[in-house]
Amino acid sequence: MSILKIARLGHPVLREVAKPVPVEQISSAEIQRLIQDLIETMREYGGVGLAAPQVHRSLQIFTVEALAGSDQSQGKETPLTVLINPVLTVTSERMVEAWEGCLSIPDLRGPVPRYQEVRVRAFDPGGKAVNFQASDFLARVIQHEHDHLTGKVFLDRMRSFESLAFLNEFNRYWQQNEK
Ligand code: NI
Repeated sequence: MSILKIARLGHPVLREVAKPVPVEQISSAEIQRLIQDLIETMREYGGVGLAAPQVHRSLQIFTVEALAGSDQSQGKETPLTVLINPVLTVTSERMVEAWEGCLSIPDLRGPVPRYQEVRVRAFDPGGKAVNFQASDFLARVIQHEHDHLTGKVFLDRMRSFESLAFLNEFNRYWQQNEK
């Protein structure tokens, strides 16, 4: 496995629409290796999610994982989830705003409105179709990572940049208001 270099905002790969992975290629050594590298890279940099375009591979794959007690987990334990060719369906129009960051936009935090619930249809790393309902924190991370597959970043979803903050200032002026 390898720790991969992360594309930062401004790299055109972050603005491309990622290609679906042909289902019969999910089991290939190349895709399996990419999945393992995504997991290792996400863990190395302490992200709660990482999408293939963020490691310069314009393919519809992302990983999500949050350990309870980590900075960004918001108290929720989210087991490792790898989704390939995900399709999201909004199941409730209710939106919730919460702070997000992104490994491709280091050191910035901003409040982002997201749907509270989404239905997810995708393939897992074994090539099996999965279909589940996600809500709250998991739904947020899945929407953030799914955006990366369509060339969007969280800044595009913010209602205003007035509360965009560097991490240090976020911790100092904003974080206590969230608790
Ligand atoms: Ni991101």
